[in-house]
Formats: sequence, structure tokens, C-alpha cells
Amino acid sequence: MNTNRLENIGACVFDAYGTLFDVNAAAQHCTADLGDKWLPLAELWRGRQLQYTWLRSLMENYADFWQVTGEALDFAMEALEIKDPALRERLMELYLQLDAYPEVGDVLRQLRDGGMKTAILSNGSPKTLQAAVDNASISDALDTVISVDQIKVYKTAPAVYQLAVDQLGVKASTISFQSSNAWDAHAASNFGFRVVWINRFSQARERLPGNPDIMLDNLKPLPAIVGLRN
Ligand code: LAC
Repeated sequence: MNTNRLENIGACVFDAYGTLFDVNAAAQHCTADLGDKWLPLAELWRGRQLQYTWLRSLMENYADFWQVTGEALDFAMEALEIKDPALRERLMELYLQLDAYPEVGDVLRQLRDGGMKTAILSNGSPKTLQAAVDNASISDALDTVISVDQIKVYKTAPAVYQLAVDQLGVKASTISFQSSNAWDAHAASNFGFRVVWINRFSQARERLPGNPDIMLDNLKPLPAIVGLRN
């Protein structure tokens, strides 16, 4: 892994949840109801949400990310003995308006102004992604928002990463893919993207195929890394 530059990049493609949008924000906004259970709930909810995407893909039994997110929340609330249907509805509503990390808007605009194509490639359903993008006011800074829903299989299937190649019309080796989800970063590298792992929480390196090219703790240095001045 180096921390310098990626050459010959024509498009920057971003994972959504955890990378652009703070997935803990929904539970964090409900600390008045959840007390010190907010973080355990956020972590269990996110953990089950991801596991259900992987398991459903292996089972070849796709349901969209909105359904999976709700089912994961139901599991997490039951496991933590939180019985509150109104809170469940509020948490789901908040998932449509997750906070974007503070640097996201500026970085996307710098990339776009510098001539890069910009896109989201996410497990999110089109409805959920559009809501998050609108809420963060970053629609103008994105060329396209690509959802796995068109092929009904989740990351880490190679067909998901191929969607970005096909829809942006560029070679995989000219795509810089950013994800804070280490497993996603490894899978994208294994597919053939150049990869910047946004290691927001100082996690240990995964032992998985693929080898992210660069590790950052937030997105701010990205324009310089892909060859734009900032
Ligand atoms: C996504 C999940 C993996 O946005 O965070 O695809």
C-alpha cells in the first residue's frame, strides 16, 4: 500500500453507506430513546444488514436493501430487547436522511470540476440512495448513482463492480474506487479497480483477496491523489 498518487484515473466511484453517509447517524439521532444502547444498536443493525446481503446473495434470494435494512433492524431491536414500533419507524425514516461526512460535498465538487467522472456504486435501493443524495445536496456533483438493484445480487459479486465499468464506459483500471468498508475495498481491488480504502475507524487490514492501493482516514486528499490540485 502506498500513500502517493494513482495515475491515469478517469472516474472516481464511491461506496455509499459508511463512505459518504454515516450509517451510525440514525441511531445516534435517537439517543434520547436509546440511551447507551444507541451504539450497540447501530453496530448490530449494520452488522446484520451486511451479513444478510452476503447470505441472500449466496442463497440467490434477493430482496432489496430497504427490506434487508428493515429486517436487520428488527433483529437488532429484538436482540437488545427494545420493543418500540414508533422508534422502529423513526429509525427507518432517519436512514433515508443519513448525515453525509463533512468533507463529502467539497471533495465531489473538486473532482467534478477537475474533469473526473463521479458516481456512487452501492447496495442501496434506488429510492434509499436518491433520498440520501438529495438530503446531502450532492446530486449536482455526481454523474450517476448506480444501484445493485438492476442485477439483484449484492457486493461482493464481480457483476456489481462491472456495472460501473459498463455504465461509465471506462476501463476498470482507470476507476478509482473509494470505500470505507474494507471488505468492499478488497473485493473492488480483486475485480480490477484502483482502490482507496477510507479507513475512517482505524481498522485492521482484512485478510481477503485484493490489495487496496492507498489508505486514507477521510476523503479530503483524494483530488490530489488522482492527479488534481486541491
Ligand atoms: C454500500 C454498502 C456496502 O453502500 O455500504 O454498498
